[in-house]
Amino acid sequence: INQHYTLSNGVKIPKIGLGTWQVKDGDEAYNSVLIALKNGYRHIDTAEGYRNEASVGRAIKDSGIPRDEIFVTSKLESHIKTYEGALEAFDKTLKALDFEYLDLFLIHAPWPWDEVGKECHEGNVLAYKAMEKLYKDGKIRAIGISNFEPVDIENIITHCEIVPHVNQIAYFIGLDQSKTIESCNKHNIFVEAYSPLGTGRLLSNEVIVQMAEKYQVSPAQICIRYCLQKGTAPLPKSTHEERIIMNTKVDFEISTDDMNVLDHVKKNF
Ligand code: A2P
Repeated sequence: INQHYTLSNGVKIPKIGLGTWQVKDGDEAYNSVLIALKNGYRHIDTAEGYRNEASVGRAIKDSGIPRDEIFVTSKLESHIKTYEGALEAFDKTLKALDFEYLDLFLIHAPWPWDEVGKECHEGNVLAYKAMEKLYKDGKIRAIGISNFEPVDIENIITHCEIVPHVNQIAYFIGLDQSKTIESCNKHNIFVEAYSPLGTGRLLSNEVIVQMAEKYQVSPAQICIRYCLQKGTAPLPKSTHEERIIMNTKVDFEISTDDMNVLDHVKKNF
């Protein structure tokens, strides 16, 4: 849990982060983040779109852990595709968290959530240019994208100055993201894995359950360890203390043969 990856700009990012998607604002978000920090997490992933930034920020403050020891990510809402809009939204995020700076800020998606698939290449460039400015101003330590596919990545690379440091994508056993990962590797963009447990739906998968028995760990630990061995940073979400803790106890090695077996699991949801 205290190990790091290093982004292309030299910034260190803890290998496992707490996901907070669908974690309710108020006590639920506050308690999950505080429990995670008390149990060694130093990486918290939120987004304006999760509507829990204020509770996340409050928990980070109340933890008493120095701000610079915690890596915090937030995301620009996916319908904001202008330069000015992105600057304003960043301000709002910083205020909600009550921070002076952010560690990582991502464009939440290449398309607005209610128009998934719509091409917004120009808007993504405008929003990203605002993030480049904030990065140069020292307001953000790393910038990036989320849910971007190769064509969206190429668009940013072609029209912007700073290669994104991170692409945060859905990544879990059985989900084929090989094309996006290939594109990220080519450009030295670090991959973060959200929903590493397949939003919980992988935990009853027969192959994973059997593998968990073999290694004497839980299915969740197999899923998280798989993401780590693939060189990604998993962001498991949980609101339960024992699970939040369990999700960091992944100091075992899945053999090459068993990784190969997991590579061939077919998603059935
Ligand atoms: P809960 O928040 O009630 O603990 P993902 O990270 O892939 O989105 O998966 C999150 C889902 O998996 C949530 O429903 C969460 O439930 C559940 N979950 C997280 N960690 C564990 C675990 N160690 N064991 C069982 N379920 C888990």
